[in-house]
Amino acid sequence: MDDSTMQIPLEEKESEFWDMKNLRPPVDFEDLVRQLHIVFQRDRIDVDYVKALMASYKSKPSEWKQFAKFDEFRYTRNLVDEGNDKFNLIVLCWNEGQGSSIHDHADAHCFMKVLEGQLDEVLFDWPTEEGSQLLEKQTSQFKEDECAYICDDIGLHRVENPSFTDKAVSLHLYSPPFTECASFDQRTGHKNMCKVTFYSRAGKRTPFGKWQKQPTVTFHPTSLPPRSLQHCCESEDN
Ligand SMILES: [Fe+2]
Repeated sequence: MDDSTMQIPLEEKESEFWDMKNLRPPVDFEDLVRQLHIVFQRDRIDVDYVKALMASYKSKPSEWKQFAKFDEFRYTRNLVDEGNDKFNLIVLCWNEGQGSSIHDHADAHCFMKVLEGQLDEVLFDWPTEEGSQLLEKQTSQFKEDECAYICDDIGLHRVENPSFTDKAVSLHLYSPPFTECASFDQRTGHKNMCKVTFYSRAGKRTPFGKWQKQPTVTFHPTSLPPRSLQHCCESEDN
């Protein structure tokens, strides 16, 4: 999206801009993207406001389905918008039972809005010492139109579609954009760095690449995936 055509009210007082009373629910997906561009032009971000803005968009599949590309063997990350270099907006597509590894967010804000279905999020503390098991500290479920938030100060997380019968789709905003993050082995706390890539960009499939050589995972929602099959939420694409 080209920011040059937008009216960006940077002169507006901070307190007025972030006042929830002034929040206007997006009329459609395109309007949501437009409003996010305006929000992320500012120097400081109000996390609660962005969460509320994303949650206030009433999901309509016809408005975002062009970005929703599923893969039989793994969940996919599909780039929607590069946010004028301030953020990446990504549609994630989760087939039944698909889930991520435990991962961090490279010092970025991460907002996750459910567009369809529901997602489970398991929160973990950072490992305290080499070889220590990661302990679950909280599990949350997010339903359609709800929006979650995480950053490295909150901890690590794993996200999964718990349904055996329904797919799920979520919209993720990462700010600032990042090219690498870390995934963690739950049993040992061992960290692996992973490169960020995309299954598609602006609705177009990106060429096949190294992901084909990487392990993939579809696991039973009530049990942990085998350790050797876990992979990074942020790296399993091309
Ligand atoms: Fe994440």
